[in-house]
Amino acid sequence: MTQAIIELRGVGKSFRSSDGRERPVLQQVDFTLREGEIVALLGQSGSGKSTLLRIMAGLVQADQGEVQYRGQPLHGPARAISMVFQSFALFPWLTVQQNVELGLEARGVAQATRAARAAAAIDLIGLAGFEGALPRELSGGMRQRVGIARALVTEPDVLLMDEAFSALDVLTGERLREDILQLWRSGSMPTKAMLVVSHNIEEAVMMADRVLVFASDPGRIRCQLAIQLPRPRDEDSQQVRGLVDEVYALMTAGATRRAAGAGETAAEQPASALLTDRLPAADVARMDGLLELLAEPPFDGRADLPQLAEEASLTDAELLPVAHAVAQLGLALLAGGDLQITPLGRRYVDGAHGLRQDLFGQQLLAHVPLIAHIRHSLEQEPTGELPDAPFLRLLSEQLGEAEAQSVLRTAISWARHGEVFEYDLRTSALRLPTGDEAPG
Ligand SMILES: Nc1ncnc2c1ncn2[C@@H]1O[C@H](COP(=O)(O)OP(=O)(O)OP(=O)(O)O)[C@@H](O)[C@H]1O
Ligand SMILES: [Mg+2]
Repeated sequence: MTQAIIELRGVGKSFRSSDGRERPVLQQVDFTLREGEIVALLGQSGSGKSTLLRIMAGLVQADQGEVQYRGQPLHGPARAISMVFQSFALFPWLTVQQNVELGLEARGVAQATRAARAAAAIDLIGLAGFEGALPRELSGGMRQRVGIARALVTEPDVLLMDEAFSALDVLTGERLREDILQLWRSGSMPTKAMLVVSHNIEEAVMMADRVLVFASDPGRIRCQLAIQLPRPRDEDSQQVRGLVDEVYALMTAGATRRAAGAGETAAEQPASALLTDRLPAADVARMDGLLELLAEPPFDGRADLPQLAEEASLTDAELLPVAHAVAQLGLALLAGGDLQITPLGRRYVDGAHGLRQDLFGQQLLAHVPLIAHIRHSLEQEPTGELPDAPFLRLLSEQLGEAEAQSVLRTAISWARHGEVFEYDLRTSALRLPTGDEAPG
């Protein structure tokens, strides 16, 4: 066994909810991040993944259990551990160089050293020549590279990435992920271990040596799967497709699975599954309308939800599923009661119908496991067609019949807009769009 870098033993955390009650968010989490590995963490929204990362970085204190970094109890932020967030978290008035130097300034590195190290990190992540640019002059992918450079400039021992790719469009996210894997493989970054939170099963399988599946309410590690494929990995290869299917299965099955080499935790409770997540019941026209409203003045890309509801003439109950839907698809971010358009959301709003369909389809495949699962299943059928019944049954087991119907209806309406699949009302069959290429 290689050396443990971060060790969590019996970690628990509760938050007080708005009605004043303590709500457990994490319970009995045992996990060891070891030297030389990339671990992916998958789990549904609100299951406590970000909280776990903050605890590992020493940014938040656990209520129960123990956190150790290289054999020492972790109290407070650890210098050797860097985090990359989903939202780019750059200072808009600072240049790329200045944004990256901030990572060092916070650690008291002398100014002369800072400049050289920041320049090296910027170069490493492929942004040479953009040192003087302001964040708004960069594409979303480039901005996220700045965020990563800021994390890498401190030469962290451990890199924790919290959905670092999910606000990017699929291709940009993939390219950035590949570049990071390349740096990792080449040994040009000093980082010894990475933990990557993702909503994307394929991303987890492509990146990780080990995939942890998180269960919700309270968050805990449900099971894990070792990924022993050599790198670089081919996402179209049979092994990768097979593992993606296996992770889907792990996330839906009630049974506990233990992967080879997984000596640690495997909780027994059935997880709330990603594949059978409820989908926010939002129709596409409303999503479009909301994004357009959000992009324009007076909001200019960021709005307080209650104000947005008023402007859109929607009640909160009507607005929330729409806001959740655009957030789930990476077209906007929900943070602190605000809805903020992402660069991808901006492209979507500015795009013509065809581009909108393409982007929407890509995001569905990347962020809605149910839709990706149906699409993959249809692609494996010579006729490109399957009855809806097995999918409904799968959903019903978790959600009950009425909710299952509603979730499938939502999935179908979204999938039609993104041209991911069609539904034939007459035969109750799902099928690939006729004569259509796979989006993305
Ligand atoms: N500071 C806080 N105060 C109160 N509740 C919190 C706080 N931070 C997180 N929570 C709650 O803890 C739960 C887990 O949140 P967390 O952000 O860790 O989940 P997550 O798995 O990262 O979700 P997502 O996939 O949406 O990012 C959520 O219900 C959230 O509302
Ligand atoms: Mg999170």
